[in-house]
This record gives sequence, C-alpha cells and structure tokens, in this order.
Amino acid sequence: MPNKNDILIKLTRGVPPTETFRPQQLAECADAVLTQYGDTVLQYGSSRGFTPLRELVAEQSGVSPNRVMLGQGSLQLQDLCARVMIRPGDAVYVEEPSYDRALTVLRRAGGQLVGFPLDGDGPDVDEIEARLKNGERPVLFYIIPDFQNPSGKVMSAEKRQRVADLARQYEFYIVEDSPYRRLRYRGEDVPAIFDLAPDRVLRMSSYSKLISPGLRVGYVIAPEAIVDKLARMAEDTYINASYLNQAIVYDYELRGWLEPHIDELKALYMPRLNAMLNALDRHMAELAAWSKPDGGFFIGVTLGKDVRAKDLVKRGEQANLQLTDGRGFFVASGGDRFVRLPFCALTPQEIEEGIARLAQIVRAF
Ligand SMILES: Cc1ncc(COP(=O)(O)O)c(C=O)c1O
Repeated sequence: MPNKNDILIKLTRGVPPTETFRPQQLAECADAVLTQYGDTVLQYGSSRGFTPLRELVAEQSGVSPNRVMLGQGSLQLQDLCARVMIRPGDAVYVEEPSYDRALTVLRRAGGQLVGFPLDGDGPDVDEIEARLKNGERPVLFYIIPDFQNPSGKVMSAEKRQRVADLARQYEFYIVEDSPYRRLRYRGEDVPAIFDLAPDRVLRMSSYSKLISPGLRVGYVIAPEAIVDKLARMAEDTYINASYLNQAIVYDYELRGWLEPHIDELKALYMPRLNAMLNALDRHMAELAAWSKPDGGFFIGVTLGKDVRAKDLVKRGEQANLQLTDGRGFFVASGGDRFVRLPFCALTPQEIEEGIARLAQIVRAF
C-alpha cells in the first residue's frame, strides 16, 4: 500500500476536470460546421468573430450584435480592453484579492492599480466613493462579482447597484468578468452589474468553464465605440480568433447541448464544494476563516497565523501538496496569509486528504 503522503495533491488546479470534456459531441459539431460553414470558418474573417455566435450572445443579453466581440478566450479580450482603454499612469480600480492574470494585464497596459479589500459581500463602497469624491478618476474598475477568482465571493445586489451608480456619476467603466456566473450550485442569481448600467459596463465571459478552456472562445459585450476600437486593435494584432472553434460553440449551443451539460457540471461540482467546506470545518476551524460560496471553482482561505506565502508553498511541497502563492492575487503587499483552494478538479477523497495536510502544515508554523 502506498503511503497516503506519496500521492501528490494539487490544490492549485483551477481548471475543469478532463472528464467533463465531450470530445465526441464536439467532433460532431466540428463536422457539421465544416460542412455548413466551411467557406467562412476556414477563411480569414472579421476580428469581431463568427457572426452567428455573436448574434446568439447578443440575443441572450438583449443587445445589438454590434456590441459583441468574440475572442480567443476572455483573457485575450481583457488584454485588448486594457490596451485600448488605459493610458500609462491611469488609475484602475480592482478588488483585492483579484484574478492574478488580469492584474498582470492591467499593470502591463500602464494602469496604476488601486485595490479595494473584499468583505464578505464585495468591496467597501463607501471607501470607493470617498476616493472618487476626493478627485481620483479611474478609467475602469475590474470586478469579478460572481464566485470570484480567487476568493469565491459574490458581490451583493446592493453593492452592485452602488458601483453601477458611481460608474455613471463619475464616468468610469466597469469590466464585469463573470466566467463562473452560470455555475451556481444553490441559491438565487444576483442581478448582473451589466443589467444595471449597460452603458457603463463591459460584460465578459467565456465558454472555458462551461464547455472547454482549450477551445479558447470568450466574449465581451461593450459600448459600440469601444468594440470598434477593440476590433481594430485585434485586426492589427492577430487578424481574427479561431472561427472554427467559435462555430463549434455555436453549434453545440444550437443543438441544445449546453444547458444539460451545465446541469451535469453542477451535479459533479456541488459535492466537491461540499466536501471542501466540510473538510475545512473538520480540519481548519481554529486555523483560518474562509468564504462559503454557493458556486464557482474556488474557496478563499485567510489563515489566522502570520505565515509567509513562500514558506507555506515550500512546506506544501515537502508534504506533496501543491499550493498557489497567494501574493499574486494582491496589488502591492498582502496575500501571505491567503490561500486559494480550487475544488472542481479534485475528488472528494483528494480534497479531504489535501485539507488535512494543509491543516497539519499550518498548525506546525
Ligand atoms: C476571473 C477569470 N477571468 C478570466 C479567465 C480566463 O478565461 P478564458 O479561458 O476565457 O481566457 C479566468 C480563468 O480562470 C478567470 O478565472
């Protein structure tokens, strides 16, 4: 019998598990779209993306297709938005913690990031308002309101309304990045910020967590003038993202396969979320505080002890436990005591063992 500690547990795996992929179905879709749309999907195309999928996304959000642009995943669109909207030195508001890659993209475009710590229901809007009243003028506020990466938190309806109102009053844009919104395992949806201020919000999402990240299909819905700029920037950078993949997504959805697939994902992920919440209760109760999300991919844990992330990751390695360094999710300092725990790609047994090991490591500090 191998020792339990011989098995490497990756508490870093924020990806969909491969058993959720549907290669046979996607092969059928690929076959169908190559037959029906071969001339279009095998040719260069407009950088805005495959028109039927743009029209479908537009219809689902009740907007004109002129406001929709498809990209090679949503991160590519975030990069384009950052490059089009931010001039070096511009203030950019972000939640803290936030998605590490997005922070990199925003910084690389020259944004001066201002982080607003997350409470259980979102950032402190009074503090945001105070800074705005004081004369600070951000160009955009990057928000992941639904089952945030990395904290798992959901912004309350009240705070969504307040930041939407502030965006209108102080004329900044909100980038609402919401790839986990459809993965709610219980409870009720909170209104999207986009629906509260469609003139001030860039809605971003993707099919990475719903069909497959490897397809690299994401979208942004933005005011038309911004989409025009994004499209020009995209054309001069990569001409267009893969129409074949966009058409596959379109066909998959048109066949009615997406909705039942999302139900299957929820049925697989909810027990994993519960397993992680239970394991945290069992092993970490006196050691940490954590979010208790009703969906998404992540639980964010804040350790009660003063540890250094570097040491935590190192001790994890020694115990065959992969941990993400929490500092990447924070703007300046902070993050040493923050641990992001993804639960979707681990079995309940791996989750139990992983959290038991994490507790042992933390206790030993
Ligand atoms: C909040 C958030 N935004 C964007 C992305 C990137 O997604 P995509 O695969 O669509 O580029 C991720 C991926 O993990 C994410 O968590």
